[in-house]
Amino acid sequence: MAVSLILGIQLVIPIGGADMPVVISLLNSYSGVAAAAAGFALGNLALIVSGALVGAAGLILTNIMTKAMNRSLANVVFGAFGAATSGGPVQVETRTARSVQAEDAAVMLAYARSVIFVPGYGLAVAQAQHQVRELADLLAGKGVRIKYAIHPVAGRMPGHMNVLLAEANVPYDELYDLDEINDDFRNTDVAVVIGANDVTNPAARDQPDSPVYGMPILNVDMAQHVIVLKRSMSPGFAGIDNDLFFKDNTRMLFGDARRSVTALVSEVKGL
Ligand code: TAP
Repeated sequence: MAVSLILGIQLVIPIGGADMPVVISLLNSYSGVAAAAAGFALGNLALIVSGALVGAAGLILTNIMTKAMNRSLANVVFGAFGAATSGGPVQVETRTARSVQAEDAAVMLAYARSVIFVPGYGLAVAQAQHQVRELADLLAGKGVRIKYAIHPVAGRMPGHMNVLLAEANVPYDELYDLDEINDDFRNTDVAVVIGANDVTNPAARDQPDSPVYGMPILNVDMAQHVIVLKRSMSPGFAGIDNDLFFKDNTRMLFGDARRSVTALVSEVKGL
């Protein structure tokens, strides 16, 4: 999807739909700078201070988001210029991904010692946060240790996953940032990826020729078992295949995330 950013009357820049939060944050910082400049012109100290605060906050947020995506600001703002929309060589995927049914996935979860939920944009699309909380409570009741791994750019805006999980009253102390939880995956029985894709792609860590190389990712592939909930093999925002889906320890649970988690809940209840 491409939307247009209109600057003044004549300059139109195409911005990728999910890049808009970064651009909005940048423009927000400019509004602060403009307010501070007006404060200088009017000799108004309150306007100078508040403008400087808004400007600095916007710039800091912009910097955090571009860093977490491992992209430069210039790439976010001008990256869509001249981008090909069709044509080019077609790469054919020859690897096989293994699928799993809800009943088998439920057994893996119910008999695990530790489970990490990894939410992404698909959780927001499916609005599955309440069902995820219900599943987590059921598993915790069976003695499973539950954690949630939050990537800084999972979803489409800063704090997207935190807001969704807070809405479902997920306990705050079960949420862990990327740096806090990344070493835990290797000691975890099952990682459940719910509508996340790019933020779990091992190519960002292992393949220097990958377009996402260098972007910090959640080390989901290091868990003993990985269950990925999504509807198809379609790529995420970055538009590239995810090596995680083809790993030996990964099973794909295809379907809308809310329906899949609801099925897991009823299967776990039946065990
Ligand atoms: P993505 O890589 O965009 O992947 C989301 C996945 O959700 C898709 O592969 C899609 O697969 C799946 N999905 C969609 N609807 C679903 C549904 N109803 N049920 C189940 N799955 C569903 O998401 P991510 O891992 O959260 O990564 C975020 C991306 O956005 C990153 O590339 C990041 O750089 C970019 N971005 C983020 C931000 C901020 S601030 N968060 C800002 C700009 C850009 P299917 O279609 O197969 O279901």
